[in-house]
Amino acid sequence: MTDLSRLSIHSDNLFSDAIGAGGVDRQALEDLSPRLADLRERVKAWYADPTPNFLNLPKTTDVATIKHRGQEFVRRFDRCIVFGIGGSSLGGEMLVRTLGPRHPKCAVTFYDNVDPSTLEELGEVDWQHTLLLVISKSGNTAETLSQFLTVLPVMEHQLGDERIKEHTLVITENEEGALFELARRLDLPVIEHPPVGGRFSVLSVVGLLPAYIGGVDIDGVMEGARAMAERCVAADSILENPAYFNGAAQYLHAEQGRTISVVMPYADHLRFIVNWFRQLWAESLGKMDAEGRHKGLTPVEAHGVTDQHSQLQLLLEGPDDKLVTFLTNPAFRYRGSRVPMRFNDIPAIAPLAGHTIGELFYAEFLATRTTLSNRHRPNRTLSLLTRDAYALGELIILMELETVVVAELLGINAFDQPAVEESKVLTRQYLGKMNSVDT
Ligand code: PA5
Repeated sequence: MTDLSRLSIHSDNLFSDAIGAGGVDRQALEDLSPRLADLRERVKAWYADPTPNFLNLPKTTDVATIKHRGQEFVRRFDRCIVFGIGGSSLGGEMLVRTLGPRHPKCAVTFYDNVDPSTLEELGEVDWQHTLLLVISKSGNTAETLSQFLTVLPVMEHQLGDERIKEHTLVITENEEGALFELARRLDLPVIEHPPVGGRFSVLSVVGLLPAYIGGVDIDGVMEGARAMAERCVAADSILENPAYFNGAAQYLHAEQGRTISVVMPYADHLRFIVNWFRQLWAESLGKMDAEGRHKGLTPVEAHGVTDQHSQLQLLLEGPDDKLVTFLTNPAFRYRGSRVPMRFNDIPAIAPLAGHTIGELFYAEFLATRTTLSNRHRPNRTLSLLTRDAYALGELIILMELETVVVAELLGINAFDQPAVEESKVLTRQYLGKMNSVDT
């Protein structure tokens, strides 16, 4: 098969033959292959299934209808506000912030918190020119419902009861949920959330509609995602399948105590990938197995180069419990202003003079990576060019399937989140004990 991938994956520095003591053994990785036999079958079945699931979204999502609807919104509105939390916002926000143009025709803003001081700014929204997307798979999420209910009077005031439905779209799955009921009572249009978990929903209407409205090339994202899905479905060998290979290697490191997964983008525009990945990795992998053992890998964010002056010392000389994934843009070395050939009699300036800022950025990435490897600290590098929708689509499927591979090897279910319910129940109890103000 010709490899037309635009995502470059460099994993050698996970192995002992490259970095010595802190690396895992390639043979140990091959030995894990039989433990993925069931998963291999499920992966093929998932991809062939006509019902949407995380892996087949690149072919089951109706992109044409999303674009049609999105075009209408972009024509009518110059701002779009998204209410949603967790999987209902992180995927869309990643696509918009990673791939969207700086000045889109319709600017998309995601509100994924209930910090009252941040939400105060919603009082200034001009709803005549604004679209509201309210996204919640369950339709019962306290934060999203509260956001919507508190902004509703402002919308009613500005638009009148009748026109709210022209400015609001609800995405939800649960017809028994409160959001669906609100949509029914207010006569709001509803799109069905596909039957996939929130953190695996980025390649559905949940992520793609806000992304398209924000100017993202969603066809490119889906082409890349489809290519990676097909590549992973086709390759049975653990050595040839990038998700099996990288997932299994991360599992082996976790077994050796390296349970902290640091993701370090050397590109500001790639930072939002880490936000999305953190939820995917933490919520999918942090749980108890059937024997009641606590499992999980902890995602940690570090920014290149900023955190070279913050976390790097820990990564190099702290406990050997981390694996670093670099996200880079190799083209950065050709970009940026050039440091002028002035003042180069000053020793600290001499090495910089004549180089672009991008060369400095890339040199610092190479130096950090080499320093880690020299100290036997495992690392891998995923490279993609700026605003390369195809490569980001590939990366999304790769990271999702790696997550599923690690879950399989840990003996846990990647798709549930049984423990978070307790905190939701307690929140309701604490609210019940607070005096509500009757307005
Ligand atoms: O991935 C998940 O399932 C969760 O993080 C949810 O996305 C999050 O809790 C929000 O749930 P909902 O979409 O039901 O409002």
